[in-house]
Amino acid sequence: MIERRITVPAMQRDTPPHDKVIPIRLESLRAPAAPRYDGAPLADRLGRSLRDLRISVTDRCNFRCVYCMPREVFDANYKFLPQASLLSFEEITRLARVFVGLGVKKIRLTGGEPLVRRDLPKLITQLAELPIDLTLTTNGSLLAKQARALAQAGLKRITVSLDSLDDATFRAMNDADYPVAEVLEGIDAAAAAGLAPVKINMVVKRGVNDRQVLEMARHWRGSGHVIRFIEYMDVGSTNGWKMDEVVPSAEIVRRIGEVFPLEPVDADYQGEVAERWRYRDGAGEIGVISSVTQAFCRDCNRLRLSTEGQVYTCLFAQSGHDLRTLLRAGASDDALRDQIAALWRAREDRYSEIRGAQTDQGESGRRKVEMSYIGG
Ligand code: GTP
Ligand code: 5AD
Ligand code: SF4
Ligand code: SF4
Repeated sequence: MIERRITVPAMQRDTPPHDKVIPIRLESLRAPAAPRYDGAPLADRLGRSLRDLRISVTDRCNFRCVYCMPREVFDANYKFLPQASLLSFEEITRLARVFVGLGVKKIRLTGGEPLVRRDLPKLITQLAELPIDLTLTTNGSLLAKQARALAQAGLKRITVSLDSLDDATFRAMNDADYPVAEVLEGIDAAAAAGLAPVKINMVVKRGVNDRQVLEMARHWRGSGHVIRFIEYMDVGSTNGWKMDEVVPSAEIVRRIGEVFPLEPVDADYQGEVAERWRYRDGAGEIGVISSVTQAFCRDCNRLRLSTEGQVYTCLFAQSGHDLRTLLRAGASDDALRDQIAALWRAREDRYSEIRGAQTDQGESGRRKVEMSYIGG
């Protein structure tokens, strides 16, 4: 691991000395040459290559997490996408193949909650034929029932969101009265089905679940699974995000490291979203995802495909680019590839690096795509 000392931003200055060494992946400063397409490197305007595709398979969810689908907005009158506008499994698979032809190596299925999409294992079976790392992010509530079918269909690994081990806190956060026990059962079922190690995502909101951080770390230490602490982000325009509700990752690492000493670990691959730390006593590792306090846009290699076939070049984009019309008008694979390549080449998004003063006050003033629509 190559490290470099950097100046720690004001909001992180309460970290003890050993945490002031922020792991910087020097190798990421020397990006490998972008793969070529149509005679030229397929790089965006900031020199980034395309690697990850996140595919949302539904905009619906059985939870109403307060930071994602607040009940006042996503109520009985909320208009979810009509069935006819959703991409079929065949359409998703065809597009996925086109994306793989452009260099995509990882596909993550998201939602809403992906497991509420009927017959999802059928889609997994189709996607599993592609040479990709195929995974899925779920709230875990339906996982106990579906884990085996998902693994048998060819899913290799899984990420489960779990914001608290305390039942009252968890029920309040998912705002749908789901108990912790069901998600824990889901994680066990996933492991039993061969999807271990499971990654567990905890979105940390100050004053809501941040007192659970240490307990969460303690619970998953030595389990073989990896807990990741996510800074609460200003995604969408409905969650009323405020900067003072964000718990900086440096604070999380400090709090856990004071009790269970930690050391940094190299990224698995260039552009990995989570920064990895391991327990010095060998009890496993944790991750922190610091989109707010340490933006990772410079390595961002992701595209997002919405349930209705819109491509988004950033999680914080205001609009997408329609592929469904082209697809349904009978476009060839080459035409689809050209279109996506052109989108990627024109891309210059780096929202988290520039969110700065505007969102510092909680509202950027521009309407962004909702998390439940684009899948995180
Ligand atoms: P793996 O590296 O395969 O484990 O996946 P991941 O961490 O990229 O995916 P996951 O769905 O677990 O996302 C973890 C958190 O990172 C979620 O809160 C996502 O919204 C967030 N995230 C993922 N990609 C991006 C990104 O490109 N930009 C920002 N700002 N946040 C992202
Ligand atoms: N900030 C950070 N993470 C979020 N997620 C959903 N909304 C937010 C937010 N506002 C997380 C989910 C899931 C992942 C895809 O994104 O909990 O783990
Ligand atoms: Fe919660 Fe995920 Fe559903 Fe959003 S999509 S409400 S984060 S479970
Ligand atoms: Fe990529 Fe946009 Fe996230 Fe930056 S904010 S890492 S550009 S998705």
